[in-house]
Amino acid sequence: MWMAELFITMWILLPTYIPNNAAVIVGGGPPLDRGLKLRGRRLLGDGKTARGALGGAVAGAGVAVGLNLLRPAVEPLVGPLPQFPPLVIIALPIGAIMGDIAGSFLKRRGGFARGAAIPVLDQLDFLIGAAVLTLMFAPGWLFRTVTPTIALFAIVLTPLLHRIANIVAFRLGLKQEPH
Ligand code: CTP
Ligand code: MG
Repeated sequence: MWMAELFITMWILLPTYIPNNAAVIVGGGPPLDRGLKLRGRRLLGDGKTARGALGGAVAGAGVAVGLNLLRPAVEPLVGPLPQFPPLVIIALPIGAIMGDIAGSFLKRRGGFARGAAIPVLDQLDFLIGAAVLTLMFAPGWLFRTVTPTIALFAIVLTPLLHRIANIVAFRLGLKQEPH
C-alpha cells in the first residue's frame, strides 16, 4: 500500500522537479529582473533568467504530458496512477518555477547573495509554488489525488532528492554550488 503511494508521490512530483533542473541546463542570458534593485538589493538576482523560467516550465509540462502517455503502460506494474488534466499540466511546472522565483525574491530581501544556501526555503519553495497554483486552478483534482500520506511523502522526500540532484549537478559542472 505505502509502496503504491510512494510511487504516486514521485509520479506527481516529477513535473515539479524537472522545471528547476531544466532551468539549470537551459538558463542563462538576461536576468528576469533586468538588474532592477529594491532598497539596494537585486529584485531576484542573476540566477533567475527568462530562458530558465520558460524552458523549465515547458520541460515540466512536457514531462506531465509524457507521464500521461506512459500511464497505461506503467499501471499494470504499480497500480492506479493519476492522469494530469490540462490545467494541472500547466499549474504544476509553472507553480514550481514561480515558487523558486518567490524563494529568490525572499532570499534577496534577506540580503543573501545569489547561490547562498537557505536550507528549508531552497528545497521547498518550488513545491509550495506548485501546490498553491494547483490549489488555485485545479482544487478538485488536488484534493482527490493528493492524500495526506502522499503530501507527507512529498514534504519529506523532496529535500532529500533535491539535495542529491544538486550534488550531481554540481559534480557535473552544471551548477556553481552544491545546493
Ligand atoms: N536558472 C535560471 N532561471 C531560473 C531558475 C534557474 O536561469 N528561473 C539557472 C541559473 O543559471 C541558476 C541555476 O539555474 O544559477 C540554479 O538555480 P537556483 O539554484 O534556483 O539559483 P541560484 O543561482 O542558486 O540563485 P538563488 O540564490 O536566487 O536561488
Ligand atoms: Mg540555488
